[in-house]
Amino acid sequence: MTILDGKKVSNQIKDEITAEVQKIKDRGEKVPHLAAIIVGNDGASLTYVASKVKACERVGFESTLIRLPGTTSELELLKKIKELNENDDIDGFIVQLPLPKQIDTQKVLLTVDPDKDVDGFHPTNFGKMALDMTSFIPATPFGILELLERYNVETEGKHTVVIGRSHIVGRPMSILMGRKGFPGNSTVTLTHSHTKNITQITSQADIIITALGNPGFLKAEMVKDDAVIIDVGITRVEDESRPRGYRLEGDVDFENVSKKASFITPVPGGVGPMTIAMLLKNTLLAREMHKAKKDAL
Ligand SMILES: NC(=O)c1ccc[n+]([C@@H]2O[C@H](COP(=O)([O-])OP(=O)(O)OC[C@H]3O[C@@H](n4cnc5c(N)ncnc54)[C@H](OP(=O)(O)O)[C@@H]3O)[C@@H](O)[C@H]2O)c1
Repeated sequence: MTILDGKKVSNQIKDEITAEVQKIKDRGEKVPHLAAIIVGNDGASLTYVASKVKACERVGFESTLIRLPGTTSELELLKKIKELNENDDIDGFIVQLPLPKQIDTQKVLLTVDPDKDVDGFHPTNFGKMALDMTSFIPATPFGILELLERYNVETEGKHTVVIGRSHIVGRPMSILMGRKGFPGNSTVTLTHSHTKNITQITSQADIIITALGNPGFLKAEMVKDDAVIIDVGITRVEDESRPRGYRLEGDVDFENVSKKASFITPVPGGVGPMTIAMLLKNTLLAREMHKAKKDAL
């Protein structure tokens, strides 16, 4: 069994990006600039945004964190997004989800300029991805592709089962695994909470990607020998023995499933760090597109 070490691979990617940034600096050009908007005080969201900002510093990007109160109106947030769309200094930005109840998430995502949408959530980017065109691929699925590629995990002709159909993980993952090329060329089954006899489906899978947010959901009896297991789930489970009062758990019963798997991602240290690295990669791409556009003027 091989651990797909997202921490190690994400550090390699960050080193590669750092080297790219150095070349940009050596040419006397402006370094990539990522902005992040966070609305409210959700603990997990604040942690995620803080790690994104830290990752920017690590690779030499400029970063701007915009913190708005939880009472921010939809109109105020849309105005802020339009400002970022028009700010020539910013190459890409993200709006950290989830948003407070008074704000329509779809309206927000539609307002982000697709050329700065480094999360890849705008319908233009999602559509391009589905049509095999160059686009910003949502960072978590992009990170999973990168892990599969760097560990040379065979995907062609394999049966991939994705559990969960969210717009940010499960749905795009199912499209990407079925695309032509590597990683891809898989036969994909997308499952969700209405799927019947899920064990019958998962036990036929060569590759299982779990993205449901249910700790320990995937048990050893649901998995065939030598399956490849990608665990996207991250759930905070109360744990008084930890300094923070909680621990992070994935969707996979790691202890037992790992005994049957050929490759498996741990939680933490698997998909999570890859997500941040791919956000940086998308920002680098945004900066290149932005520069090419400016140079063409
Ligand atoms: N590692 C990372 O960087 C990263 C990034 C994003 C998310 N995550 C984590 O990944 C998990 C999923 O996140 P998400 O945003 O994709 O979740 P989400 O929007 O809550 O979607 C969960 C999906 O799981 C499906 N589901 C729920 N119970 C199920 C069951 N018993 N059997 C089969 N499918 C079931 C739901 O089906 P329905 O559609 O029918 O409701 C839904 O499609 C969470 O733990 C989240 O924290 C991690």
